[in-house]
Amino acid sequence: MAAAGDGGHGVPPAVAVLMAAAVLLAAASTMVAGQEEHDDDPGSSSPCARRPVVFAFGDSNTDTGGVAAGLGYYFPLPEGRAFFRRSTGRLCDGRLVIDYLCESLNMSYLSPYLEALGSDFTGGANFAISGSSTLPRTVAFALHVQVQQFLHFKQRSLDLVARGGSAPVDADGFRNALYLIDIGQNDLSAAFGSRAPYDDIVHQRIPAVISEIKDAIMNLYYNGAKNFWVHGTGPLGCLPQKLAAPRADDGDLDDNGCLKTLNDGAYEFNTQLCAVCDEMRAQLRGATIVYTDVLLIKYDLIANHTAYGFEEPLMACCGYGGPPYNYNANVSCLAPGFRVCEDGAKFVSWDGVHYTDAANAVVAAKMLSGQFSTPNLPFHYFCK
Ligand SMILES: *[C@@H]1O[C@H](CO)[C@@H](O)[C@H](O)[C@H]1NC(C)=O
Ligand SMILES: *[C@@H]1O[C@H](CO)[C@@H](O)[C@H](O)[C@H]1NC(C)=O
Ligand SMILES: *[C@@H]1O[C@H](CO)[C@@H](O)[C@H](O)[C@H]1NC(C)=O
Repeated sequence: MAAAGDGGHGVPPAVAVLMAAAVLLAAASTMVAGQEEHDDDPGSSSPCARRPVVFAFGDSNTDTGGVAAGLGYYFPLPEGRAFFRRSTGRLCDGRLVIDYLCESLNMSYLSPYLEALGSDFTGGANFAISGSSTLPRTVAFALHVQVQQFLHFKQRSLDLVARGGSAPVDADGFRNALYLIDIGQNDLSAAFGSRAPYDDIVHQRIPAVISEIKDAIMNLYYNGAKNFWVHGTGPLGCLPQKLAAPRADDGDLDDNGCLKTLNDGAYEFNTQLCAVCDEMRAQLRGATIVYTDVLLIKYDLIANHTAYGFEEPLMACCGYGGPPYNYNANVSCLAPGFRVCEDGAKFVSWDGVHYTDAANAVVAAKMLSGQFSTPNLPFHYFCK
């Protein structure tokens, strides 16, 4: 392990907790430093016939700077070191899956809804906030609150236009936009952390979370949204953060070294989410709801990591403690004393919870293949 980066930085305990709780995701970067915004070159190079507009909801897996703007947190280097080469508020050494998805449309990265400066909402807005869950539903920034923020944003935009002004997204833009939801990892993590019996988690906690996601989709639908892109949750039991927790023995480990019980829980979550998506697809006239199985994608990446060019599937690049997991809840990435690996591109996990830029590239590419989606539509289906 290389020397600590900005280890002297006093990270407030709240951030450490947030990072420990937050659910998140994390390639070889070819772009030069500072080139964050893509050229928006409508027509010529985009696969879209109309300008793509994306509204995203979720947690740290999708947060492109929301918690930094909303709560004033600062995530210094080495966050962002592999791609942006500066602090962007992402909990990753580079791009998140959402960033790669936006790249695939040749559109700019999504601006966080709460970012007051330098934001460009013509391509939509990102309501995802690190640490968010679906429950409890009325706290900042639960999924329900994110949807309320969106409704405020939409109402205000239409109001401005009605009064002769202009807004970054017009009525057509809202109608044709893609509404992306990736949430539940923090709910699932909290449920298992509470040591609730497994059956309660599967039969009570998970259905309550899925019901919140359903409610969010219905709410957006009845407010004019028709194109949805829903992510299942990832293999919770393969996160260094979970693997590093003390255990009596290795009886719960599977062939790939992941925790079976947690992955079974994630599988149950996805099965229920997929079923609710099927149900809504049949029920909501004119809606297109694409569900993507993130667990299959990520578990394949971990199981077959060498085929994807990774050396460390279960060890955090940024953390503390060394092999096998390099994760210590008291010294998470950015906490005083943390250490960071030389080459994050060899690691699936950036900080024990979130994936690296390199891993997110693989996850996004698999997602874009459509192979893991129901129905099997390309990501740009909504802007064709
Ligand atoms: C995005 O733009 C690049 C460069 O202009 C182009 O090569 C690529 O085909 C475009 N992507 C799609 C999916 O159209
Ligand atoms: C690993 O790759 C092999 C060959 O492509 C595939 O059959 C297998 O399902 C993959 N493993 C997982 C866990 O996805
Ligand atoms: C974290 O700190 C607490 C309190 O000092 C200690 O009891 C615990 O063992 C530490 N955990 C690890 C993983 O070192």
